[in-house]
Formats: sequence, C-alpha cells, structure tokens
Amino acid sequence: MRLSVDKLNKFFDKIAASTPNVIDAKNTFAAFTTDVIASTSFATETNANEDPNNPFVANGKEFFNTNVFKSLLIILLPKFMRDLLGLDSFFADKPFKFFIEVAKHIVEQRKSGAMGPRNDLVQLLMDARVDQKDIEEMNYEKMTVDENELNNNGTAEVTSNKKENSSTKKRLDDSEIIANCIFFFVAGYETTASTLTHFMFELAQNQDIQERLYQEVEGALSQFDNEHSEEYFEVVMSGIPYLEATIKETLRKYPPLSVVGRVCEADNYKLGPATLPKGALINVMINAIHLNPEYYPSPHQFNPDRFMPENKHQLVPYTYLPFSIGPRNCIAMRFAYQELRLCIASIVRKFKFEVTPDTPKELKFKSASVLMMAEPFSIRVTKR
Ligand code: HEM
Repeated sequence: MRLSVDKLNKFFDKIAASTPNVIDAKNTFAAFTTDVIASTSFATETNANEDPNNPFVANGKEFFNTNVFKSLLIILLPKFMRDLLGLDSFFADKPFKFFIEVAKHIVEQRKSGAMGPRNDLVQLLMDARVDQKDIEEMNYEKMTVDENELNNNGTAEVTSNKKENSSTKKRLDDSEIIANCIFFFVAGYETTASTLTHFMFELAQNQDIQERLYQEVEGALSQFDNEHSEEYFEVVMSGIPYLEATIKETLRKYPPLSVVGRVCEADNYKLGPATLPKGALINVMINAIHLNPEYYPSPHQFNPDRFMPENKHQLVPYTYLPFSIGPRNCIAMRFAYQELRLCIASIVRKFKFEVTPDTPKELKFKSASVLMMAEPFSIRVTKR
C-alpha cells in the first residue's frame, strides 16, 4: 500500500508541474486502487497511472463496464437458458477471463516454488486451513468485526471459533483460491476507488474543510521524515480524528454499495408496519438511511463534524452502514480503512486540490447500478 501511495505522489508531482495541472479524479484513484490490489492480492506490480496500457490495468478498467441488458437477462432467465446462452457472469467477459488466467498462473507459480513465499492474499489463501464443519454450519459469526469492535489503531482481535485440532480441516483447492482472488478484486476495486473519488470532490468543493484537514494531518505527522517508518504508520492508523471524520462523512454521503440484500429467516417477522414471511427478500437501502434527515440533519451537507468524538453521542445506532453490519459485513473493512488513511494522509500534506471550471457543483451518478459510481469530473492539483 505504501509503495502505491508513493507512486500516486510521484504522479501528482508530475501533474502539478504540468499544464494543465488537472486530473480526471476517477481514473487517477482507480489506478491507485489497481496498484494496491495488484500487489496485495495478485502479487503483481503495476504503476497504473503511468502505464494505463498494462494488461492488468486495462482489464481492470474494463471489468465494471457491465451491460445493463446482459445483467437483466442474468437476473430474469432461468438457469438452463443462461447456460445455453453462456451467460455466467455480470462482469465483462474478456477481463473476467483475464483475471481468472492471472490468478491461475500465480497459484501455479507459487506451487512450483519459483517465487518463494510472499506476504499477500494468495499466500494466505494457500496456507489457510478451513474447517469443513464450520462451513457447513455457517458457523463464522466470530470471524468478522464491525466498526464498534475496531481498536484505536484500526485493528481488531478476530477470534475464530474453529477448533484447532479438528480432523475435518482442509486446504482450499485451486478453484477456491482463484475465486477468492477474483472476488477481492470485484469487492475491493470499485468501492475504494469511488470512496477516494467522492472524497476528492468534497475536498475540492470545501476549501475550509481541506485546510483544516491539512492542518490536523500535518500537525500529527510533521515529526516524521519517513512515511515508511512504523512510527508514522502507527500514528496514521491510531486515528487522526479529523481524518477519520472526513473519511466517515464521505462514506455516509456516498456509500459505494448503496444497497445490501438479506433473506428473512423468521416466519411472520414484524418490521414496522410490515409482516414478513420466511424467505422474503429484503433490500436494505443504505443510501436512503444515510440521507435520512431524522438521523443526519441537513443530510446533503458534507459535514465531517458529525463524526468528531465530541459529537459521537448524537449518532443513532445502526444508521451508519457503509460496510454493512453483522456476520456478513465487509470482510475487508480494516484493509479499506488502512488504504484510505494511508493515501489521504499522504496526499493532503503535499498537494492542494481545487475545482476547475468543468467540475460540477454536485456529483452525478451512473444509473442502473447498486454501486455509486460518479460520472467523470476533473480536479486541479497544485503543490503545497
Ligand atoms: C470503502 C471500501 C469498501 C466498502 C464501502 C465496502 C462495502 C462492503 C459492503 C457494504 C459489503 C456487503 C456486506 C453485506 O452484504 O452485508 C461488502 C462485502 C465484502 N467486501 Fe467490502 N467494501 C469495501 C472495500 C473492500 C475491499 C478493499 C475488499 C477486498 C480487498 C472487500 C471485500 C469484501 C468481501 C470479500 C465481501 C463479502 C463478505 C461476505 O459476504 O462475507 N471490500 N463490502
């Protein structure tokens, strides 16, 4: 992650010194996110902002170019017709296959011992032992955490309820490892890239907030010369309150996943005025909850102060759900927070971001997607 942040800083240095000193926000942060996922999940080094034609980068960009018509067919058609038509994934075919091949290649390479072990997702998946009994019983409640369980430094004790000496433990097979790599890309790319893009929009629109963030981050970090030192990392992760508040407010106003689905497990469950039968599908509209003035006064105003420690008591439990909640919440919430903190803390210290005459007053979002993906907009970058 830190190496990817360095690459982003170098790219901004170059932009700030050129004319026009303007970036396409989404492209820039999607490239940064690609670098992070490529190295942490696929053991591949990319420099996506400088080398957009690298196959990993180009396929990553294409991945979410989904076709609304194809998606509808996948939802509406019965399985035998989908099989007949070869409709097996919502994602664009070519990049989907490309990533399967990359993941396959990496797993084979690791197995052959050609690369030596690395501290990345592929290695974790290859070393993992899974208890079949836990999977069958869906017994993984203690394996994820929610926001309230994060320690001050953004980490958490994850206590698995697996029995260590169980004889039913197995390794993941190749297809499970490959599927997990792809899923991490699917779940981690657009969500994090969008969050940084939305963040940048609000920062450029609200210069007073940007200045305060700069002052607070600089105040906490100016003591460090080296952004790769453990001490620097500790301070960024232990929470610079205003940095945390701006990230949280971005995720409130623009939750990248605007809806999550659940199935009602109880029979005749009373939910407000409705009675739900067992098996009913429920869509939890995260963005509607986050924009409800009952929970967040003046909800369209970008106001990080809502999340400052002195105002925390005003937050209503279960109304803040960017990573969802419960045993199936985002498995990588800590990973995402780490990435966001490291990236933002570093760039706001060195650069100033402003709107251009082309930047819209409000973000517009692509339609027909559960992901909140903003239409492209530009930002001016100057060196501090
Ligand atoms: C700001 C960034 C992110 C946001 C807002 C976000 C949000 C979410 C949400 C709302 C869910 C659905 C949970 C549910 O249905 O209750 C989810 C699931 C998931 N996310 Fe994230 N996510 C982010 C980043 C990431 C990253 C970086 C990765 C991987 C590296 C990731 C991996 C996953 C996985 C694997 C799941 C499925 C968990 C399960 O079904 O048990 N997410 N995420």
